[in-house]
Amino acid sequence: MRAHGARVLCLYPAERTTREGEFACGVAWDDPQSILGLPAYLHMEVAGVVHMGHPDARGGAGCEALFLLLKAFAAVFENRNLPAWLAHISFFGGHFGMSPAVAETGLAEAWEHLRSAGAYGVVKSAYREWPWTHVRVVDMSNDLDAQAAAQAAWRSVSAYGSETEVGFDGHSHWRVALEESVLTLNGHHLDKDSVIMATGGGHGITALAATALARRYQPIMHIVGRTPLEDESADVASCKDAPALRLYLTDKMRSGGEAPTPVMVEREVQAILRKRAVRSHLDIMRRSGARVWYHALDVRDAQALSHMTEAIYRQHDRVDMLLHGAGVLADRRIRDKTLQEFSGVLHTKADSALTLLRALHPQKLRFVVLFSSVVARFGNIGQADYAAANEILNKLAWLVASRWPHIRVSSIGWGPWDYGMVSESLRRLYREKGIALLDPHEAVGWLLREIAAAGPVAPEILITRSVQALQRGLFQ
Ligand SMILES: NC(=O)c1ccc[n+]([C@@H]2O[C@H](COP(=O)([O-])OP(=O)(O)OC[C@H]3O[C@@H](n4cnc5c(N)ncnc54)[C@H](OP(=O)(O)O)[C@@H]3O)[C@@H](O)[C@H]2O)c1
Repeated sequence: MRAHGARVLCLYPAERTTREGEFACGVAWDDPQSILGLPAYLHMEVAGVVHMGHPDARGGAGCEALFLLLKAFAAVFENRNLPAWLAHISFFGGHFGMSPAVAETGLAEAWEHLRSAGAYGVVKSAYREWPWTHVRVVDMSNDLDAQAAAQAAWRSVSAYGSETEVGFDGHSHWRVALEESVLTLNGHHLDKDSVIMATGGGHGITALAATALARRYQPIMHIVGRTPLEDESADVASCKDAPALRLYLTDKMRSGGEAPTPVMVEREVQAILRKRAVRSHLDIMRRSGARVWYHALDVRDAQALSHMTEAIYRQHDRVDMLLHGAGVLADRRIRDKTLQEFSGVLHTKADSALTLLRALHPQKLRFVVLFSSVVARFGNIGQADYAAANEILNKLAWLVASRWPHIRVSSIGWGPWDYGMVSESLRRLYREKGIALLDPHEAVGWLLREIAAAGPVAPEILITRSVQALQRGLFQ
C-alpha cells in the first residue's frame, strides 16, 4: 500500500495503546476503550481501514474488534464528500470457508478463526450504512508467502468492479454467486424414535418449524428457551386476552401501592402472553403425538447448555437433529450500537451454536439445521451484529459438512417471514420496499422439503422471496 502512495499506520496487539513512530501503533484489542479512543489518541486524518482477519492478529482479528474500529472512526465513514475505504482480509483459503480447507483443525481450535468470519457480516452491513464507501472483503489462501499475499490483497482490494466479496486461492479469483437449487425428495428421514433438540423452539418461526416436525414425525423433542413456564395464578388465568390482562395488572399494581405506567403494564402483559404462546406450541407438539420436554435456559450459558445436552444423552442415548433457532435482535447503526448489544446478538446465536456442536455426539447426529438470515448474505442497516452472527453460522455449516459428511447440515438464510421477530413496523417497511414476506405455512413446507431432500445439498442456502430487492438493500 505504501508503494502505491498510501500512508499506512499499522495497528498491532499490545498491552495498551502505544504509538511507535510514524508507522505503527500498539492497541489493546481486548479493551474496548483503547479502540474507541484511537481517533483522539492518533489525532490524524484517516482515509480508511483495512482489517486483517488473520489468526495471528490475535484479538484484533475478531469481528468485535472490527465493529469497534468502525464505531470509533464512524465520522470518517459518514463523510460522503470524501468516501473512505473499508477492506477486510480473511484467510479461509480463498473460497470464503466454502471449501474443506477449514476442516483440518478441531472444532474448538477452528472456532476463533471461524468466528472472525463475522467480519464479513460487519463489512457488508457497514456498506449498507455508508453506501458511498469503497468496500471490499477479500478471502485469501493461507499458503501464500507474505509478499505474495500482500500483493494479491492489494490487487483484490483496489480492483474496480462491483463485487463486495473477492476470493483469491493462490491461482484464481473467486466471487460468491447465488445459484437456484432443485431438490429431489425422499432422502433422509426422521421417525418417532428420533430425538430433536430445538433451541428457540417454543416461540416464533422455530416453534412453527418444531410443530411441523412434531406433526410429520411424532419424534422426541427437547425445546429450549429462556421463558420460564411456571403455572399462572387463578386470577391471571381468568384473563383471557391482552385487554383483560392490562386491566387486571393495572388494578393489582395500584392496590399494591405502585403507580403503574403503560410501559410497566405492557411489559408484564407481553411476558404472560409469551409464556402462553410457548405453552400453546408445546401443547400442539404433544397433541401431534410427539413426546416433549421443555428446558428454560439461556443458551448463552455454555455450562447449562452442555449439562442439558449430557442429560438428554443419559435419557435417550441419542440426538438425531439439532434445530438452532435461538436468536435476538439489537438493531442500531454501528455508530450508536454498544459492544454489549453487539456481543449479546453474537453470543445468543453463534457462540451457543459452537457450544452445542461441541456437546453433541457427531457420530449419532444426522441433521443440523441453523436458522440464519439473508442479512448475512447482503448486510443490512443497523444489523452489523446480526449479519455477523449469521455469517458465523453459515461458515460453521460448511465446516460441519466437511468434517462430518454423514450429517445433513443446512444453514438457512431465511428472508423475512410474515411471523416471529418481524414486527408490524418492519412489515410496513418491507411492503414499501416491495419485499414480499414468506408465508409461514409455505416456509415450513420448504424446511421439511430441505430435510427430506436426497443427495448432496449446499450447507448454506437462502430461502426467500424478492431476492433482487434484498440484494439492493433491505432498508435502503
Ligand atoms: N422471523 C423472520 O423473519 C426471520 C428471518 C430470518 C431469520 N430468522 C431467525 O429465526 C430465528 C427465530 O426468529 P423469530 O423471528 O422466530 O424470533 P422470535 O419470535 O423472537 O424467537 C426467538 C426465539 O429464540 C429464543 N431465544 C432468544 N434468546 C435466547 C436465549 N438467550 N436462550 C434461549 N433461547 C433464546 C426465544 O425464546 P425465549 O424468548 O423464550 O428465550 C425464541 O423462542 C432467529 O434465529 C432469527 O434470526 C427469523
